[in-house]
Amino acid sequence: MSIPDPRTVARISVVGPGRVGRAAALALAAAGYAVAGPFGRGEPVAPADVVLLCVPDREIAATAGTLRARTPLLGHTSGATPVAGSGVDFSIHPLRSFAGAEGADAFTGVGCAVAGTSPEALALAVELAESIGGRPFEVTDEQRAGYHAAASIASNFLVTLEAAAERVAAASGLPAGFRAHLAPLVRGTVENWAERGPRAALTGPIARGDEATVALQRDAIATHAPELLALFDELAERTRALARTEELPA
Ligand SMILES: NC(=O)c1ccc[n+]([C@@H]2O[C@H](COP(=O)([O-])OP(=O)(O)OC[C@H]3O[C@@H](n4cnc5c(N)ncnc54)[C@H](OP(=O)(O)O)[C@@H]3O)[C@@H](O)[C@H]2O)c1
Repeated sequence: MSIPDPRTVARISVVGPGRVGRAAALALAAAGYAVAGPFGRGEPVAPADVVLLCVPDREIAATAGTLRARTPLLGHTSGATPVAGSGVDFSIHPLRSFAGAEGADAFTGVGCAVAGTSPEALALAVELAESIGGRPFEVTDEQRAGYHAAASIASNFLVTLEAAAERVAAASGLPAGFRAHLAPLVRGTVENWAERGPRAALTGPIARGDEATVALQRDAIATHAPELLALFDELAERTRALARTEELPA
């Protein structure tokens, strides 16, 4: 089946009535497409020019398999799943976290990793991403695992680090609710990193070369939260390396 011209795509069926599927259906409808769905498990999927799969990664290949024969163009929204071999023609992965209550503007200004099995399929992915306010950038299947790892480090591991900070604070006897004092520190650091890059954003005793202070911190971790000592040592070492570098290339 040939790939339709992006300008001729009018009807889009969304499959998977979850966090991404509900937001994508709202956003695509607001962009002017005739949207059907999101369709749930076992529901017949309305014929369309494009079917966008917003199902869990493990369901993509099977769902694509059942829809392939009667769908001109199939896409998924997974960050980790390659396009080749998954039964789809294109992918649009929004680089943000969806909790479930997002509206039609959920994709506005959001980076969207796009990929396609052909230049035409890629053009369609770009067109769809832009139509809902996203900022598309191409990620090839070869780049995909590294791309997804980078996103996980930036987002998931940041939460893990903040959980560790809360644990050390609580174990040291600081009051419940200390998160409210850490949060502005974290927000300011993230803003500095985003605007100026990692080296310029790095402050604190390691950046200043105050190793005696770092040793005091390490003693506190060893006393109050010894399970975090290996993490502290690893991060301290990585931070020393960062402090020694020139600014990373943009
Ligand atoms: N959430 C995020 O922050 C986020 C961000 C970017 C990309 N993504 C990607 O978006 C995709 C969907 O993730 P999600 O977070 O929206 O998942 P989700 O909230 O778990 O929703 C998945 C939906 O798909 C339905 N489903 C499962 N198998 C189906 C099938 N065979 N046919 C029709 N519907 C089916 C599920 O229904 P049941 O409840 O019946 O199983 C559920 O309603 C994934 O590829 C994910 O990697 C997610």
